Amino acid sequence: MIDKFETKVLVLTGIAIMVFIFCILYAMGHRKSDVPECVPFDKSYTRPRINKIDDSTYQVFSVARMWAFEPAEIYIPAGSRVDFYVTSLDVVHGFYIAEKDVNMMAEYGSITKTTVRFEQPGVYKITCHEYCGTGHQAMQAEVIVNFLHPQP
Ligand code: CUA
Repeated sequence: MIDKFETKVLVLTGIAIMVFIFCILYAMGHRKSDVPECVPFDKSYTRPRINKIDDSTYQVFSVARMWAFEPAEIYIPAGSRVDFYVTSLDVVHGFYIAEKDVNMMAEYGSITKTTVRFEQPGVYKITCHEYCGTGHQAMQAEVIVNFLHPQP
């Protein structure tokens, strides 16, 4: 015989789990957010770079360190799909793109991956949202969609 209080706790827990699952499915389906995944660590991910796969597909290897992201400026055309591979060279940093529901951590020895579509032209700020020391508030980068790259 299950105690009445235990039954209540079980039912409420079940409801809470269903709400969480609904939120994940809603974010993936309706808001088209990608669920971040972990990629096995490899030293090549610590080299910041942008790979162009084709005209609308890019890979960005973003490296966080005190107190900057590299690359700091990412120029892509509107309609692009970008796979971000994020890691840190020192402490734990954050990797946050408010307009795109991207909220990840950048950790030493670990790679986090997410995919983002940039349909609208504009400048999307990448900010560090994990306190990482005295330069934390200035730590940011930009995804610049549909503006020409400045000529050297
Ligand atoms: Cu890096 Cu805060």
